[in-house]
Amino acid sequence: MTSTRFRTWAALWAAGLGVMRALAAEDVLLADFEGADFGGWTVHGTAFGEAPARGTLPEQAAVGGFRGQGFVSSFHGRDRATGRLVSPEFTVSRRYLNFLIGGGEEVGATCVTVTVEGQPVRSATGREDEFLNQATFDLGEFLGRTVRIEIVDGFAGSWGHINADHFVLSDAAATPPFVQNPPPPPPYHDEPLRPQFHFTAHSNWLNDPNGLVRVGDQYHLFFQHNPTGREWGNMTWGHAVGTDLVRWKELSPALLPDPLGTMFSGSVVVDAENTAGFQTGKEPALVAIYTAAGGTSEASKGRRFTQCLAHSNDGGRTWIKYAGNPVMDAIGDDDRDPKAFWHAPTRRWVMPLYVGVPDPSRPDAQGKPAIRHTCQFFTSPDLKQWAPSGVFPEELSECPGLVSLPLSPAPGTHLWVLWGGDGAYWTGDFDGRSFTAKSGKRIGDYGTHFYAAQAWDALPNGRVVLIGWMRGGKYPGMPFNQQMSFPVDLSLERQSGEVVLVKWPVPEIRNLFTSVLREDLPKPFPPGTHRVAGDLGDLLDLELEFLPGSARTVSLEVRGQTFRWDAASATATAFGKSIPSPPVAASAGRRSEFPPPWGPDLKPWDGSVRWRLLVDRTSLELFVNGGLATASFCFLPEGPPALSLTVEGGDLAHARLVRRTLKSAWR
Ligand code: FRU
Repeated sequence: MTSTRFRTWAALWAAGLGVMRALAAEDVLLADFEGADFGGWTVHGTAFGEAPARGTLPEQAAVGGFRGQGFVSSFHGRDRATGRLVSPEFTVSRRYLNFLIGGGEEVGATCVTVTVEGQPVRSATGREDEFLNQATFDLGEFLGRTVRIEIVDGFAGSWGHINADHFVLSDAAATPPFVQNPPPPPPYHDEPLRPQFHFTAHSNWLNDPNGLVRVGDQYHLFFQHNPTGREWGNMTWGHAVGTDLVRWKELSPALLPDPLGTMFSGSVVVDAENTAGFQTGKEPALVAIYTAAGGTSEASKGRRFTQCLAHSNDGGRTWIKYAGNPVMDAIGDDDRDPKAFWHAPTRRWVMPLYVGVPDPSRPDAQGKPAIRHTCQFFTSPDLKQWAPSGVFPEELSECPGLVSLPLSPAPGTHLWVLWGGDGAYWTGDFDGRSFTAKSGKRIGDYGTHFYAAQAWDALPNGRVVLIGWMRGGKYPGMPFNQQMSFPVDLSLERQSGEVVLVKWPVPEIRNLFTSVLREDLPKPFPPGTHRVAGDLGDLLDLELEFLPGSARTVSLEVRGQTFRWDAASATATAFGKSIPSPPVAASAGRRSEFPPPWGPDLKPWDGSVRWRLLVDRTSLELFVNGGLATASFCFLPEGPPALSLTVEGGDLAHARLVRRTLKSAWR
């Protein structure tokens, strides 16, 4: 035992902790509750009994996961009893406190808490599960200070107890150093404002999708996440996986903040040719290239934004940061959001990157140069050394995306699409070094809540699937904050001489369909309101096609929100936004809006307006005329699910409505 380790051991012993001893390496065991009593811990109330439990207590479901024979249980006197078990003061001599926890999930009431001068500074609950799971607190900011652990049972209702064991101070975090509360069983994920087929984090904040990649049959969805709060901050890469782009399972966070910064947006590639040399087994390594946002945390104070690598050799479960990070130093102002991909013709990795360039010709209010938002291109043979290869001349906000798509109806022709965070895009050419626009800037989404989209762009058969962050939705009282958009297939179509980026919900949505109903309105339909009868549920995939005839306005009302089409301007209006109705190109007509049994034979009417609307509990996404224009909105539902169509000013020549009810993707 080194003298330092001995001194720590001795100091803790002197502090009065009962059972403890120095472990291998540098860990310090604070308490494992293997003795006949609680050692130096103080017992309050009756819930903890007189001594550590040595197994499941009477009338308790089977307890598992504890270490050795003994552990703390507050099930003495069952759920009704309450109490607290408080450790002696000890000095935080290692950064992490690792421990095991199970039992109730009452925040602040069935929990393990660390207190400094009596004030709780960290707290974790169980997950309504008797099993004791590993948890970790990061106590870095309290190093050298004296603290206490309190095991709290202040709740007398169902699941009013807590289990805990094996408290160890360590230089290594046993789990990501935030207490994760993975989803307990339903009704979790069924809260009134929880989207049911749009991705949300189990709890806390989410923004941009990151690192979209498919490995085998599994899609990975990483995302900007604050694992400890409902507001933006503390950026970490959250992680979810699924096989159908619709149903997701959240895993532990993949990339945690480090001294180079918090983890901002980026991408993941499959390094099939092991160009970076990270591969250890038979399967190619996954490589994440992300922004370490220096200066956004205490630990990274004074640092700038740099680009970094991490790799995984176990299908994305464990990520190891590259020892040579950063691979790209700061260039401009807050450079970020690298979106790397393999460019086969030049056998190089390519990376569009957002770079903020100070522009002295445009001083801001303080006289400092305003920041010009640019997209710059870099190439690399090995993901580690990057050389600049081009600058896109127009302003582009953060989160660039660049993909190649076939142009329909021109077989064999491909065009590249470049977009920025606000969804605006250009179509053009990419020669492996730089992008040249052949179009003007086009609006990507006409709604209010579509941002920072990223694509799964290395899918079989050239399929490209886009998902965005529905920025700015409100979810009062919910454990989560923000949702993703519904994934869409991307294609390009020529329409009135312009090339348009077409978005269409991925057909995998059918995995959620529970019923399909088609209704033809009386023909012609005079001014008035048609209320759709029957139990609609609150999750719908609706399609409405109408031939306006002499009607001046046609309004679809759903969940208290109105989508109104105006004949004079041939535009739709929703939430105060105008959404154009681009004429349907011949090829768009091929996309079946009414899949079997009414599909292929149901030809669109000439000159009709076709809307598809995805209705979730707190989002509405409109796809106009086969996805030639889209508009994404978050909303707070008003009133029970109801659906009606109102015609004003003249007769509607013809209208038909297909409504599919959906089940939740969480069950
Ligand atoms: C876009 C963005 C990115 C950045 C991330 C931080 O929403 O600002 O530019 O990487 O969010 O969370």
